[in-house]
Amino acid sequence: MYTVPQLTDFSAEALERTVAELFAALESEAAKVTSDSDFKMFRDRWIARKNGILTQVNDVWLKGAPKDAKRDVGARVNALKVKVEEVIASAESRAAAGTSSARVAGERVDVTLPGIHRPIGMEHPVMRTMETIVNVFKAMGYSVGEGPEVETDYYNFESLNFPPNHPARDTQDTIFISGQEQKRQRDRLLLRTHTSPVQIRTMEKHKPPVRIVIPGKVHRNDAADASHSPMFHQVEGLAVDKDITFSDLKGTLDHAMKALFGSSVKTRFYPSFFPFTEPSADVQISCFKCGGTGRLSANEPCRLCKSSGWIELLGCGMVDPNVFEFVKHNGYDPKEITGFAFGMGVERLAMALYDIDDIQLFYAGDVRFLEQFA
Ligand code: DAH
Repeated sequence: MYTVPQLTDFSAEALERTVAELFAALESEAAKVTSDSDFKMFRDRWIARKNGILTQVNDVWLKGAPKDAKRDVGARVNALKVKVEEVIASAESRAAAGTSSARVAGERVDVTLPGIHRPIGMEHPVMRTMETIVNVFKAMGYSVGEGPEVETDYYNFESLNFPPNHPARDTQDTIFISGQEQKRQRDRLLLRTHTSPVQIRTMEKHKPPVRIVIPGKVHRNDAADASHSPMFHQVEGLAVDKDITFSDLKGTLDHAMKALFGSSVKTRFYPSFFPFTEPSADVQISCFKCGGTGRLSANEPCRLCKSSGWIELLGCGMVDPNVFEFVKHNGYDPKEITGFAFGMGVERLAMALYDIDDIQLFYAGDVRFLEQFA
């Protein structure tokens, strides 16, 4: 480590040599600066007011010089200060860039270092569940359709047998598009509250027979909580042909539930109401967690089915003849044909499948939750 020597010989050659030694020390210390903290130590060692090398040079060389050498020593000390400052400035910029001449010279590629890991994305659990449901029906010969998320009052309500101002509309708290007042009611736009409007859109385009599933996003004016979200997903189903009966509906959905939840689940069709089906039913499956007993052990109730032994999963029914009236012109004469329809909430199904107790987890984007499905 360089220390400032005492000067006894003030001859030009002696001064030259002493200054050269100082520069050599300066350069070699500067070359070792690779980081910010290195740089600060280096800078303080050389130019700190108190006891920095420049201060020592001033005290030891200049103040200690005999009168007749003062001029020469002073000039050399001034030149030396300029040089020291230059070297410090360039060390600083190298430290900031994170390199040093020493490191560049000795640099090697370390092939044993772990690489940069960029995790590959995965299908969102809601999308995966939607896909799984759709595939169950594809395997039964259903095709897949889609429809718009911004829908008219006609498709979302009227043609599904919700007449204007009918109280059944209140069961689907609707988000309306603003500025529609000047249009006829049936043309006013809203965010579809269910995927059922695609039933009518499909029957307008295709003559019977029809077997179709329709996955998609829907919106309701519901406050977000553990079981509600203003946006969620549904899969709609529609089968129309001659002689389709309620037992076709039961057989189809019983098979679908077994395909999704395991062959030991039972299904139960519980009377319900939807304007566009008659009769209508809610489909419940026996709880696959507790085996339908309502409890996991003698004193532990089953949370999944709330001790009831049954989980309600979807709505369904026989297509109401009033619905066919809206598409009669395309071969859907209610005297000739019948059909069944069903609609299920994808999140609700995913929550049952994966035992998730808060729907908001699907939308929070927390990787710790999502990566469990990878
Ligand atoms: N669209 C209904 C809802 O969102 C669900 C539904 C029930 C769809 C019965 C159907 C059906 O196709 O037949 O609450």
